[in-house]
Amino acid sequence: MDFIPYGRQWIDEEDISEVVKVLKGEFITQGKIVEKFEDALAEYCGAKYCVVFNSGTSALIGAYFSVGLTKGDIFITSPITFVATANAGLIWEAQVRFGDIEEDTGNLDPQEVKKLIDEKTKLIVPVHYAGHPVDLEKFRILADKYNLFLIEDACHALGGLYKHSKIGSAEYSDAVVFSFHPVKHITTGEGGAVLTNDYTIFKKLKLIRNHGITKNPSEFVLPSEGEWYYEQHYLGFNFRITDFQCALGVSQLRKLDKFVNLRRNIAKFYNEKFANNPYFYIPVEKKYAYHSYHLYPIRLKEKFLPYKREIFKKLRQNGLGVQVHYIPVYKQPYYRKIGFTDFYLPRAEKFYVSEISLPIFPSMDTKTAEEVVNRTFKVFQEIEKLLIF
Ligand SMILES: Cc1ncc(COP(=O)(O)O)c(C=O)c1O
Repeated sequence: MDFIPYGRQWIDEEDISEVVKVLKGEFITQGKIVEKFEDALAEYCGAKYCVVFNSGTSALIGAYFSVGLTKGDIFITSPITFVATANAGLIWEAQVRFGDIEEDTGNLDPQEVKKLIDEKTKLIVPVHYAGHPVDLEKFRILADKYNLFLIEDACHALGGLYKHSKIGSAEYSDAVVFSFHPVKHITTGEGGAVLTNDYTIFKKLKLIRNHGITKNPSEFVLPSEGEWYYEQHYLGFNFRITDFQCALGVSQLRKLDKFVNLRRNIAKFYNEKFANNPYFYIPVEKKYAYHSYHLYPIRLKEKFLPYKREIFKKLRQNGLGVQVHYIPVYKQPYYRKIGFTDFYLPRAEKFYVSEISLPIFPSMDTKTAEEVVNRTFKVFQEIEKLLIF
């Protein structure tokens, strides 16, 4: 039986030839294509500035640095995310607080965030889980009221919209972070980006990406010692992405809207086939959201919760590359060790025990989508039979 992965990149001949062009040229790391990709992303999203990084994780670390997150600060994020969202703040020795989520979207609940804000809180990081935007206006109101920074972890949500605003426009936030890992909407192999409308944030992003070093004489704090001179102002990293990866990014970005449409068509097909089924809930799309369906997360109905392990195993045995997104971050041994020993958020826990992500990717044809539906129903029918006898 053919194995259907949960996600997969789509790279065509045009993408390959764009990468090869750069590889045959003189500059393969820091040539002109890095900026070309940044300009193209900024234009697509409608933000003033874009800085690309070598992963979504480094983009998050850079974004938190750019708003000054540091030791003694608290930041609030979702437990239903990849560990990188929280780790990126711990790197700066800030403390994380996890807020509970909305049951239906799996997104951080602004009401829960409000309860966690105190005088040490500096930053809120909502995650557009699965590609469904959070209710950004509500987070903006909180950020304004308590004078906090707001950074969107949009690693799942490139190509999505909040109301009429493109995810990535940073219309409601200080910065927006993307990942270009192969399962995401477009890929550069590994890669990430931060978009912002704030010049100070933009400048700090550029510094942190390159060891905290500036080569701009107008920024020197000491007298220049010659044309070779540069200064290090912060403890930074090598978070640079290469020109040939950005060539792939530029080429992929041209196809982004097509990719998102294809994802939405598959989601629509699943939604119709799975409507009102007795086994699981399907993803929602709120009025304010244009979902870009990085994932298609289903949630088991009450009766099936005790059988998740069995269901997951059977889906895999039937050739479906299902995944679980996510184990709540605070349950990780590392997080238990740093203070989340008996921590428990009821909706996040329920989400975790009920969630399974079905395969979805733009190159999936109708026949494959039908296969996913048929195999999924087959597994649930088998489990149901076991429950009856
Ligand atoms: C929500 C979220 N944040 C951050 C990341 C980190 O991105 P990357 O894998 O590009 O470092 C991911 C990647 O899976 C993610 O899903």
